[in-house]
Amino acid sequence: MKSEVRICPDRQALVDTAYTLILERVQTSLAERQSCSIALSGGSTPQPLYAALALADLPWDRIHIFWGDERYVLASHPDSNYGMTRRVWLDLVPIPAANVHPIPTDLAQPQLAADEYDRQITAHFGLESGSIPVFDIILLGMGDDGHTASLFPHTAALSVVDRLVTVGDKDGQPRLTFTFPLINHARSTIFLISGASKQSALAAVFAPTGDVSAYPSRGVKPQGELLWLLDAPDGEGLELLAS
Ligand code: 6PG
Repeated sequence: MKSEVRICPDRQALVDTAYTLILERVQTSLAERQSCSIALSGGSTPQPLYAALALADLPWDRIHIFWGDERYVLASHPDSNYGMTRRVWLDLVPIPAANVHPIPTDLAQPQLAADEYDRQITAHFGLESGSIPVFDIILLGMGDDGHTASLFPHTAALSVVDRLVTVGDKDGQPRLTFTFPLINHARSTIFLISGASKQSALAAVFAPTGDVSAYPSRGVKPQGELLWLLDAPDGEGLELLAS
């Protein structure tokens, strides 16, 4: 794993840096594999990035969009990561419907949605069930508690290693989430973390020793590259800790 920390002066610089890094990696994937698979994070931090990507001139027919986690709500719900991404980005670009892969949160039970998404991802990559696909890019955020995707502290989802997708638990509310094995198989994993409220969790995540169960972002150790994009209030002094 090649890990790199970039401290950006402010949130806009973080978005601009992420935009440039993502476009570079999309072009590499297209050149090497003629396609690019991207799993998106939710929350508020990536929204301006997604709005910027809506203006990019890309071969959308060769780009496939997935979500690394989702709230167990319908696409029309204001909390839907898919709904947000459609509004600010995907409805504004000519990406084929078949290239957009939302988590099927309309299924009757969260576990059914997790199992179906697991199947859809496996089928997309043309793998046998039980194999772990390699996403070209996985974007991640981090909460104030050190969670990432919907892998929350001290939850059962952290220990799921035989599935690609599982049911997460945020204070009793079901979420759908990539598991650590799937996240850690990515070619390029990019954290976008903004806001002084993340500072204490970041210090725990970057500490030489610590508990993944308490700070799940510690569990992200991908076989490919790991880029941490932090804004200044968060990251001062942390770049030396990245191994
Ligand atoms: C979600 C996420 C989650 C998010 C972090 C940070 O569905 O909310 O994917 O992991 O990335 O909670 O959220 P903010 O960017 O809003 O701080």
